[in-house]
Amino acid sequence: MNQNSKKMFVAPLYSKQKVTKSVYRLDFYEPDLTPLFRAGQFVNVSIPRCKEIVWRRPFSIHRVNSDKGCFSVLFDIVGRGTLALKNIQKGDKVNMLGPLGNSFECPDDTEQVILIAGGLGIAPFYLFLQQLEHRDIKKTIFYGAASAERFCCLNEFEQLDATLYLTTDDGSEGESGLITEPLWRYLETAELKRKTVLYTCGPTLMLKEVQKISKQFKLPAFVSVENVMACGFGACMGCAVPLDQPGEKRYLLACTDGPVFPINEIVIDG
Ligand SMILES: Cc1cc2nc3c(=O)[nH]c(=O)nc-3n(C[C@H](O)[C@H](O)[C@H](O)COP(=O)(O)OP(=O)(O)OC[C@H]3O[C@@H](n4cnc5c(N)ncnc54)[C@H](O)[C@@H]3O)c2cc1C
Ligand code: FES
Repeated sequence: MNQNSKKMFVAPLYSKQKVTKSVYRLDFYEPDLTPLFRAGQFVNVSIPRCKEIVWRRPFSIHRVNSDKGCFSVLFDIVGRGTLALKNIQKGDKVNMLGPLGNSFECPDDTEQVILIAGGLGIAPFYLFLQQLEHRDIKKTIFYGAASAERFCCLNEFEQLDATLYLTTDDGSEGESGLITEPLWRYLETAELKRKTVLYTCGPTLMLKEVQKISKQFKLPAFVSVENVMACGFGACMGCAVPLDQPGEKRYLLACTDGPVFPINEIVIDG
């Protein structure tokens, strides 16, 4: 059995929810694998009924509901794959590979996690908070979006005991500007700096800024990268991530070595 067939499964769509104007949540029924999914991991989804779309599309595992045997993906419609995915119906069977990649880890002595998300970069953090629910850790989210109607699941994050800081590009909710601006201020004034770990996912410019912040405050930080992928399991070499080290250039693969990396060990391109 090769790695590809080992991780392949077919899951029926259990329910579909429109979360914002262009963001959908799909819940799939897969009771055997759902308890195994870890935050940060992803599934590589074959787009149903679209023979012209050859490559699978990767999506973070957004949340799990072990009681119902379901896991969810949350996605924005950005092209033909996500448009086709939005149109699937309850009961439609979807072929996927997963769970793929590594996951967010939270050291035992952590006192605070700070999650920094831009746009759909928020997707993997719901499951991460689900996993941290019974740990006595302060949970803070810095979440930036283009405008107020683009935010996803704000109430649900609060129900998971997270404190939210919001920014929008147009000032329609929260502070106007980049999400890293209130993060800088927060860290300059926050008492709890030791045993704080940063986790980030989203646009490249935000990731670069978080890299700077992690260096400045000497805080460990992890990034989930969203390189364009094809196979998802280390065969095509299409998702190379350069390591930040002197001398000869070395690369890791986002799909198998990641997608989660210590932010100061890689070069964030773009
Ligand atoms: C590990 C991983 C996890 C991801 N998780 C999520 C998620 O939870 N929710 C979500 O909405 N998206 C996620 N993405 C991005 C998602 O895979 C792409 O948006 C999707 O493949 C686009 O498919 P499409 O056919 O609709 O777009 P295409 O027609 O293929 O492309 C349309 C546009 O989207 C851009 N695009 C394509 N792939 C990516 C990508 N990987 N990252 C950023 N832009 C891309 C293209 O450059 C193009 O501008 C993830 C990507 C990776 C690698
Ligand atoms: S997507 Fe093929 S090697 Fe990573």
